[in-house]
Amino acid sequence: MTDLATQLAGACSAAFEAEGLEARWGAVKQSDRPELADFQCNGCMGAAKQAGMNPRDLAAKIAPRVAEHALVDRVDVAGPGFLNITVSASALADQAAFIGRDEKAGGGAVEQPEKVVFDFGGPNVAKPMHVGHIRSAVIGDTLVRLFRFLGDDVTGDVHLGDWGLQMGLLIIAVMDEQPDLIYFDESQTGPFPDMPPVTMDDLSRLYPMASGRSKEDEAYAKRAQDAVAEMQAGRAGYRAMLKHFIDVSVAALKVDYGFLDVSFDLWKGESDVDPLIDPMVADLKERELATEDDGAWIIEIARPDENVEAVGKDGKPRLKNPMPPFMLVNSRGATGYHATDLATIKDRVDSIEPDRILYVVDQRQALHFEQVYRAADKVGYMGRDQLEHLGFGTVNGKDGKPFKTREGGTLRLADLNGMALEEATKRIGETGLSGDIGPEEKAEIGTLVARAALRFADLQNQRTTNYVFDLERFTSFEGKTGPYLLYAAVRLKAILRRAAEQGFQAGDIQIDAPEERKLVLALDGFALALRLAREKRMPHYICEHVYQLAQSFSAFYAACPILKDDVPADVRSSRLALCEVVLHQLEAGLGILGITAPERM
Ligand code: ARG
Repeated sequence: MTDLATQLAGACSAAFEAEGLEARWGAVKQSDRPELADFQCNGCMGAAKQAGMNPRDLAAKIAPRVAEHALVDRVDVAGPGFLNITVSASALADQAAFIGRDEKAGGGAVEQPEKVVFDFGGPNVAKPMHVGHIRSAVIGDTLVRLFRFLGDDVTGDVHLGDWGLQMGLLIIAVMDEQPDLIYFDESQTGPFPDMPPVTMDDLSRLYPMASGRSKEDEAYAKRAQDAVAEMQAGRAGYRAMLKHFIDVSVAALKVDYGFLDVSFDLWKGESDVDPLIDPMVADLKERELATEDDGAWIIEIARPDENVEAVGKDGKPRLKNPMPPFMLVNSRGATGYHATDLATIKDRVDSIEPDRILYVVDQRQALHFEQVYRAADKVGYMGRDQLEHLGFGTVNGKDGKPFKTREGGTLRLADLNGMALEEATKRIGETGLSGDIGPEEKAEIGTLVARAALRFADLQNQRTTNYVFDLERFTSFEGKTGPYLLYAAVRLKAILRRAAEQGFQAGDIQIDAPEERKLVLALDGFALALRLAREKRMPHYICEHVYQLAQSFSAFYAACPILKDDVPADVRSSRLALCEVVLHQLEAGLGILGITAPERM
């Protein structure tokens, strides 16, 4: 079974075909004017125009055909030829019952599942994550959950930045503090100790120091560059240090991502494709796809007469003409971000054979990805249309500029989590649903509220737009927020718990009150919301849906008493069943958003 709109579209399409017209005119959506009807089909106008007919005459022929369908109670023709479709109460009741039984809560499935790799997160080893990395993690994780929910075969890869200058800076910073470590003895080839010589605290302390110093001290910067070059060339002690840095960072990252319930199937990084780079470069030279250019090796990807839109580091658009070439090997003989990304595509093709790779990375890297994708297409690894960059906007402070901490620095994920937890914990108890919660449960609930606040605040915006960071608003139990949705779920759980205590059970669903109709129509919109979210790779459709559902539930609960003494038994059991269905779908939707509701709050 699918959503009612899709079933009705089937009926309408058949009616158009029966009149000798194209099936596509039968598209159906929920009514813009719910006071008139549940659904509408606007196809008569376009179809009549194409066939040279009068649209109202055509509508008068289509309407009775559609009215014959088992779901339909009534079809009215309105205005120039709109079909206003009202479904029967029993159709709504059956649909609600189906959503309740359905493992996917009526969310449906993709017709042609794909094998998809998501490249998201992208934190850099030892460097603090900035808000861009956090957005990537939350949006990417949600899209992974969505695609998986709908039946795609998904692999999420964090693609660590672990191959750049920051590794050289760390190596020399550790060297200056602990010069006698075995890793710095050039004659050593290993094995090296299993215990890391540094902690995450050391890395968080050393990286900013070294990075700051390298900007003022040229000799120091040169040492870091040499160290990274030696590491990349394979010096054993440095490679062993790199592994320690990665392991220590990943352990810390897992804690911070865990707070947001973000996870990855693969923890690969740029360094993992190092062994693939030399053979790749050799192959591209041999196939004459790489060309020499002033001592560098490039892949020519410009198309004549095109203006390429790129976003500068300041976030402002620039036009480039022609598109700069893809830099395979630079004039110093080194490979960088272009080469690792191209080699990573080859690696994924060889090991996973994906239909598609989706990159959830800051919009400011759009030009980089366009270059990489064209190169991948040109050398035959993957088609341009199989590679997508899903960019996103910036997070701004209340001053409208990209968000910074009060001290003016970048925000660490751990600090963000801490701030959200503090704000959320303060607010527990405001709902009046909490009762007497002990300190341990309070901490658990605080984590769930903070996570819901941060994730929902990000996901509810159209991915490509900027939004303003406002923790107080994000953690509020009122308005379009994560905590409001938790509140809705917890309230449903409380109703069901109280009913069970009083010995009341859910039964057959019957739909009478207008608020009950609206509630089922809200439930029926789930499949469309998921379809749109997947098609456009935009999680906000899911946010919009769960928010509408919670609001429809609120209206229903205000108008339709459940546990009051004078409610007839069959009405009560029907309303309890509706509550169960709503909770089932709300939890499914929130689950895709990575948000979990507590039992009480
Ligand atoms: N580490 C990169 C950065 O911090 C993001 C990586 C994005 N993924 C990729 N395949 N390039 O900007």
